[in-house]
Amino acid sequence: MSDQAPQTPAQAEGEINTSPRRADWAARTHDQATQAMLDEDARLFLHQSVSTPCMSVIAKAEGAYVEDAQGRRYLDFHGNNVHHIGYGHPRLKAAIAKQMDELPFAPRRFTCEPASALAQKLSDISPGGLSKVLFTTGGSDAVEVALKLARAATGRHKTVSFWDAFHGAGFGASSVGGEQMFRSHLVGPLLSGTEHVAPFACYRCPYGYPEVNGAPQLDMCKTTCANFVRYVLEKEGDVAAVIAEPARAVPYIPPPGFWQAVREACDAHGTLLIFDEIPTGLGKTGEMFACNHDNVVPDILVMGKSLGGGILPLAAVLARPELDVAGAFAFGHYTHEKNPVTTRAGLTTIEIIEDEGLVENAATVGAHAIGRLCEMQQRLAVIGDVRGRGFLFGAELVMSRDGKEPADDLAEEVFYRCLDAGLSFKISMGNTLTFTPPLILTKDQMDTALDIVETALTESAQAAGLA
Ligand SMILES: Cc1ncc(COP(=O)(O)O)c(C=O)c1O
Repeated sequence: MSDQAPQTPAQAEGEINTSPRRADWAARTHDQATQAMLDEDARLFLHQSVSTPCMSVIAKAEGAYVEDAQGRRYLDFHGNNVHHIGYGHPRLKAAIAKQMDELPFAPRRFTCEPASALAQKLSDISPGGLSKVLFTTGGSDAVEVALKLARAATGRHKTVSFWDAFHGAGFGASSVGGEQMFRSHLVGPLLSGTEHVAPFACYRCPYGYPEVNGAPQLDMCKTTCANFVRYVLEKEGDVAAVIAEPARAVPYIPPPGFWQAVREACDAHGTLLIFDEIPTGLGKTGEMFACNHDNVVPDILVMGKSLGGGILPLAAVLARPELDVAGAFAFGHYTHEKNPVTTRAGLTTIEIIEDEGLVENAATVGAHAIGRLCEMQQRLAVIGDVRGRGFLFGAELVMSRDGKEPADDLAEEVFYRCLDAGLSFKISMGNTLTFTPPLILTKDQMDTALDIVETALTESAQAAGLA
């Protein structure tokens, strides 16, 4: 950075990944070759907040592990939620190789057997018979298609979505997203008509209702967060769609009754409900789809990430058949709309998830993990909240239980101690240790990871005088 030039907001945002702790960790972790590759990366790629500068160099990804260029292995409790079946599953690699031999590509306007087979499979496993399908290359594109479809089907253009949500990087997705970083003034105006409301977030209820013993007091709050969605739908009167993650990846699980109330409000006001299951679909929360926990069926569901088996990029939009009303319009017409290799990967991934009982594994081992974190919470006052479902769970760190002051610094310290001990994960919202392991994880591997977390938490809290 030049001494003379003041930082632009983009430069300031781009330095999120350059904390002193990161620098310390890098200095004691990277050898010359790793540093040279990171320098090369910085030279070659456009810089952007969160993505750059890169943390390290990855050389291998296998099963539940990633390995850096210096041979250090990390249990990957992040994996961008693509690695449900583990990295490099042999059955998936074989299916992809076979498909590449048989039919490597299908130009647009041709159909092919793997694309149809995957569309049928998704329709079969979808909640409530969402039997019309469109494939895209990534989740952001799937969100764009869903938004266009909702507009076309309702003749309306407005949306309601959550502050703090992430739905992808396209203009539509950024507009319905609620994270400042993706809504930067630098890229100019976003879509109009995108209303935002506060999300469900019981530990820090935006409407000020307290939790008691870690549970929302629904008698008191009457799910105000859901009622506010209804209020906006009523006042606007012409909202095309509510779009949201049924379980927020932060993580936050909806309070009981939340989605039923929103579903009813949508029905009452002619508004479609779009669920973004891009990180949660295909079993992450211990059900095939996160919305299955709530028994609520959306009108449109978008999924992606793990659908490509952690190898190929693939996403999908599933819709109620009644929404197939705009055949003369092109929603996406994407080059890889019916790619036989990516769709074969999707089909085989789902077969692996079913044959290996991975959804059930996420439910049982996930419940065990959340139970262990709750036990840790009894011993460690810095754990303010434990929440999640299946293999989407986390622990929010605080300076004190009463004040709930976010312990961002502590979270970062815990993160690097865990990395040193061989566990990688993600910090959300500054102070929430967020764990999204692959669905193949065994109970033993989970215990190994949670032992690492407990040691790191205990030592970090002691070092910070918080124990
Ligand atoms: C909830 C949610 N929606 C949409 C997306 C965008 O998906 P992609 O990165 O494949 O474009 C993501 C990606 O992290 C996501 O978590």
